Amino acid sequence: MTGNHIENTSSIVDQASWGIGTQCVQAGFVPEVGGPRTLPIYQTASYKFEDVDQVGRLFSLQEAGFKYIRTGNPTFAAFEQKLALLEGGVGAVSTSSGQAAVLLAVANLVKAGDHIVSAKTVYGGSYVLFGTRMKNLGVETTFIDPEDSIEELRKAFRPNTKLLFGETIGNPALNILDFEKLAGLAHEFDVPFVVDNTLATPFLCKPFQHGADIVVHSTTKYIGGQATSLGGVVIDGGSYNWDNGKFPDFVEPDRLYANTSYWNRFGNAAFINKAKAQYLRDFGVTPSPFNAFLLNLGLETLHLRMPRHCGNALALAEYLEKHPQVNWVVYPGLKTHKSFERIKKYFNNSGASGVLTFGLKGGIDAIRPFIKALKIASLVVHVGDARTMVLHPASSTHAQLSPEERLAAGIPEDMIRVSVGIEDADDIIRDFEQALQAARQE
Ligand SMILES: Cc1ncc(COP(=O)(O)O)c(C=O)c1O
Repeated sequence: MTGNHIENTSSIVDQASWGIGTQCVQAGFVPEVGGPRTLPIYQTASYKFEDVDQVGRLFSLQEAGFKYIRTGNPTFAAFEQKLALLEGGVGAVSTSSGQAAVLLAVANLVKAGDHIVSAKTVYGGSYVLFGTRMKNLGVETTFIDPEDSIEELRKAFRPNTKLLFGETIGNPALNILDFEKLAGLAHEFDVPFVVDNTLATPFLCKPFQHGADIVVHSTTKYIGGQATSLGGVVIDGGSYNWDNGKFPDFVEPDRLYANTSYWNRFGNAAFINKAKAQYLRDFGVTPSPFNAFLLNLGLETLHLRMPRHCGNALALAEYLEKHPQVNWVVYPGLKTHKSFERIKKYFNNSGASGVLTFGLKGGIDAIRPFIKALKIASLVVHVGDARTMVLHPASSTHAQLSPEERLAAGIPEDMIRVSVGIEDADDIIRDFEQALQAARQE
């Protein structure tokens, strides 16, 4: 257990050579003889210190160790180490939600007067965070169409731009990032490339291998996999040179921590240690040990669940594509999808995750009876659960927008989003078949 600081330890280095299944099951927690074999829930807010001098060393970041739950706890430290290993990063900080993870990652990089470039195809919560909340705090965002030409995209960057943000799989547009183009662009302008890997998970895609510098997740989704707990994580790829003149706070002494320079003290783990020491402590976006325990339990089966999510989603997408009541289907695992080549290039060939969208003929008048008739799938605002779930974004998550705004955001009125679970594909398809029959308009 590395405690408050995040530094590579020998046990973690060993675990880096494990296959992804072994990492999912065992990484992050090293059992001791006579101690618990499974990761315990350390339901404690405080830790006993040795003496006053040790407290001084802990509080000046000279020694690693737990001080107070807001900045660290053994249960979520183990979960963080597992996620850092799965993504191939140098360290991670878990947060109370995915939204908090995005906030923490971005707050660690920007100040009032700075600028963000973000794909416009990001999760609605991130869109509002950047476009409205960060704007109110003095940070402007330019939203780009990630499919624009490189010449067009260059125009979005300014001297005060501090990061480029995108999602591996956009939610709910389901576009796949062109990592090569966007990582190249971020690095051309000397800013870190921050990627939300929630829908892909490290099982399907590892953004650090394709030029990302920081990865974030809503662990509420596939990482936990069972819709029991809210959580998020920020992971540091350890590849970015913070001593490039753009990020003086990484290099100059932090007077609140005995003049520690994060870059000098932590080297390539400067980002994550700074995030923890400054923003986790001062924003207080810390998870609970119980949630970290449940999320870690779910993560133990990620490598078994993801292939099943992918296989079931592909089977349902192929079924829907042929159905006469269906206007269109978007699933990046279909050969007809515009991003299919990127799945082959950046994903590990196990599939394209479990989320698909489709348009139902008859619009809302057909959607109402269709959703009502579903027996296995339920109407839920969530993705990445073991259970199949559907949502009509135009009447729920995007109801505040006008029909024109919804269209611009890629949410047509006839769109149903499906998060395909890990039940039997035949049962899911039969459930959709009977619900489509119930929605048939003679
Ligand atoms: C891609 C993505 N990122 C971040 C979030 C926010 O996560 P949370 O709901 O855990 O705060 C979500 C939530 O749906 C999401 O889909």
